[in-house]
Amino acid sequence: MTSLYTLFSVLLVLVVFPSSATGDLINQTCKNSSEGNRNIDQNFCVYALQAFPASRCANLTRLGLISITLVKNNVTDSRCLVKRFLEDKKPDKGTKAAMKDCLELYSDSAYALSDASKDFKAGRFSDANIKVSSVMDGSTTCDQGFDDLGVSSPLKNENGYIFQLSAITLSIIKMLNLSQES
Ligand SMILES: *[C@@H]1O[C@H](CO)[C@@H](O)[C@H](O)[C@H]1NC(C)=O
Ligand SMILES: *[C@@H]1O[C@H](CO)[C@@H](O)[C@H](O)[C@H]1NC(C)=O
Ligand SMILES: *[C@@H]1O[C@H](CO)[C@@H](O)[C@H](O)[C@H]1NC(C)=O
Ligand SMILES: *[C@@H]1O[C@H](CO)[C@@H](O)[C@H](O)[C@H]1NC(C)=O
Repeated sequence: MTSLYTLFSVLLVLVVFPSSATGDLINQTCKNSSEGNRNIDQNFCVYALQAFPASRCANLTRLGLISITLVKNNVTDSRCLVKRFLEDKKPDKGTKAAMKDCLELYSDSAYALSDASKDFKAGRFSDANIKVSSVMDGSTTCDQGFDDLGVSSPLKNENGYIFQLSAITLSIIKMLNLSQES
């Protein structure tokens, strides 16, 4: 009975406090990222990375790949959203043109992220940096198209996610690049 209780306690401790040293890496990384870049919200960063399967014990390299995947998922989803919009709705000429621009930007971004992932895995961090930066720029260019029409971007939320997740990715790339140089 006593030993069962002990076993239970040990299990409970393992479940409640899973290796905090590694679990802390997400927090640590997001803290550094948000301190280095005011566009990054620490809570969003923690929420996004923790939601990814098997991320809690991931090292920084793995977190970098996870963040690239997160941006890619958002880009793919946003692209699909725009495609559906263009098929289902009958937007005015201006909106249609802006949407088509965004569609193209998202397609380019999806390619850029596949390349960035390869660069990242090969340790070509500056190449990965350039590609992820282009994705980040793409999200603002998409919103800008609507701003130019004088309407608020219907893709503001989507672009906001892409922007944030790209910024998080860039900041992880920077951390890895610094540790590689030292
Ligand atoms: C990480 O930060 C979140 C809040 O952002 C907090 O709830 C959580 O306890 C922290 N985890 C660790 C392991 O420090
Ligand atoms: C975060 O920054 C601190 C101080 O600059 C540094 O000691 C730590 O290693 C950094 N963490 C990561 C994950 O890069
Ligand atoms: C990071 O984790 C991956 C597995 O997710 C592993 O292949 C790699 O060797 C680890 N890198 C370091 C520097 O420990
Ligand atoms: C974008 O990424 C965030 C964080 O990973 C997630 O919460 C959100 O559901 C994603 N949005 C889309 C449209 O994929």
